[in-house]
Amino acid sequence: MTRIFSGVKPTGHLTLGNYLGAVRRWVEVEQHRAEALFSVVDLHALTVEHDPARVRRLSRQAATLLLAAGLDPRRCTLFVQSHVDEHARLSYLLECTAYDGELRRMIQYKEKGTLARAAGQSVRVSLLTYPVLMAADILAYGTDEVPVGEDQAQHVELTRDLAVRFNQRYGHTFTVPKVTRPAVAARVRDLQDPTSKMGKSHENGAGIVYLLDEPDVVRRKVLRAVTDSGREVAYDRDAQPGVANLLDVLAACTGGDPEVLAGGYASYGALKKDTAEAVVELLRPLRERHAELVADPGYVEGVLREGAERARAMARPVVDRAYRAIGLLPAA
Ligand code: TRP
Repeated sequence: MTRIFSGVKPTGHLTLGNYLGAVRRWVEVEQHRAEALFSVVDLHALTVEHDPARVRRLSRQAATLLLAAGLDPRRCTLFVQSHVDEHARLSYLLECTAYDGELRRMIQYKEKGTLARAAGQSVRVSLLTYPVLMAADILAYGTDEVPVGEDQAQHVELTRDLAVRFNQRYGHTFTVPKVTRPAVAARVRDLQDPTSKMGKSHENGAGIVYLLDEPDVVRRKVLRAVTDSGREVAYDRDAQPGVANLLDVLAACTGGDPEVLAGGYASYGALKKDTAEAVVELLRPLRERHAELVADPGYVEGVLREGAERARAMARPVVDRAYRAIGLLPAA
């Protein structure tokens, strides 16, 4: 069976963009068709300035929300990355396989490094080596497919390069994974800046709907979404990005088609109102399930404990093989 791996970084609250762009597909498609591993990749949250208590809280919350969204521990393996030592063990071997030049070329490193420096902050070494840890996440499980967005494709390419290089030098050890660009329900944009992905502009949350936002907060954010200077409701991503974004969200929530939906609206106001209600209804069961799970922390802990055990059992033999292949003396 095809094995797939994907991860969520607990650096912020999960958004409607995360849900419609990735998580919903994990729930509805991936966990049924493949042997799927989903990880809250907490080690990746330490590459930039972080608050320890916040990372811990967001990690638990992300795992709880993934369950609330419908990941089923009988159908997939859900775990927290730092619970499985194999990631860090393998990451070091891959650091000994990667070259500094190829890491310095990573777009995300360049962008985030530039931002940090501009803010007068130091750049952590782990920001540079982060794609190597991501490669370890993927390669430790013999992953065949990695469903990720555009922004992560370069990291998966690097993962492939490292797997091929390691295999050539030290003998066949790793499955060489493929990126799959999943057909997503919607690439949801920021409601205040519809040219950028929701969740990418972090200054203030006005344009971001979080999965745990109260219904009234969701309504307010959607009703205040920026629209365009025209007056007609048409689905035109270039000329009317704000309206197109609302239509995409509405379509994703109701299962409709954005162009067809556009024809049903004479005003921006009516479109916003319906979109707001559609989002509230989409999130309602998720919020309810989340509240139930929060009331039963033992259940979530149990799922994560079992998930980590299963993940460990899969990763351990692969990483042990890599240790031997690269020349490390087995412990007696
Ligand atoms: N780097 C990914 C992100 O920022 C998260 C991630 C970490 C990941 N390890 C992974 C995604 C392995 C897919 C596979 O979104």
